[in-house]
Amino acid sequence: MLIFTKIADLRGFLKEIKSLGQSVGFVPTMGALHNGHISLISISKKTCNITVCSIFVNPTQFNDKADLKRYPRMPEKDAAFLENAGCDVLFMPSVEEVYPTEKKEAYDFDYLNTVLEGKFRPGHFNGVAQVVKRLFEIVEPDKAFFGSKDYQQVMIIKALVKQMHSHIEIVSCPILRESDGLAMSSRNTLLSKEEREIATKVPKIMIEAKQLALNKGINEAKQFVDNEVEKVSLMKLEYFEICNADTLKTITDNNVPKNAIALIAVFVGKIRLIDNLPLN
Ligand code: PAF
Repeated sequence: MLIFTKIADLRGFLKEIKSLGQSVGFVPTMGALHNGHISLISISKKTCNITVCSIFVNPTQFNDKADLKRYPRMPEKDAAFLENAGCDVLFMPSVEEVYPTEKKEAYDFDYLNTVLEGKFRPGHFNGVAQVVKRLFEIVEPDKAFFGSKDYQQVMIIKALVKQMHSHIEIVSCPILRESDGLAMSSRNTLLSKEEREIATKVPKIMIEAKQLALNKGINEAKQFVDNEVEKVSLMKLEYFEICNADTLKTITDNNVPKNAIALIAVFVGKIRLIDNLPLN
């Protein structure tokens, strides 16, 4: 696996690769890699000749400075993990390399930026768009692969690519889960033993809420989630919504229509976890 820290070196290499007609798959990450990331590498390797992974903890997408500070960083372990997974190229730029000047670009994602993650993490998606656009301009991949745990992020990135008039194909990949059902996330490593045990309630609550929504209606499902989270002092619910999976508009009817998805954000201690589950 080749490792680049400088944009010019990476671009020089990719220019040669592309001149040979090879396709490039791209997996942008913030490191602290887990098997969910490795599954994105595997999917990229199946459909592209060369797979590039980036590791960059993007400061502009953290609306909470403490969250940025404690975000897990383990570059050597990550590099070994990627090498084992057969990744071809790792790009690990510094903040100065990615942002030589202060980032001020503002994006308009309209409704999408006002709900769920957009509502509770103001500025977050603007920061995601800034870095993803920058990375796309550096790597110029044919396809880019993202995990669908960050469901709304994938929608934002699809909207960004449209705004950029870019032909990069955005591939949304399935959520990978631990054996107890918890969605894989870099943030899971920050949970204490007690919090990690409590976190297993999240997928369980989601599965039960799905059944309740389908059998008894959305209101009952929402009440159930409120009650279940309320019972555990270390848990705090930020949102649980059942939305149209294409628009993320909240479903106001009590019955579950076709193409609905449940989305949750919940704190376990100081660690914020998100998850989602299609209802149909
Ligand atoms: O999902 C992530 O890890 C990040 O938001 C991304 C897409 C790599 C941008 O920093």
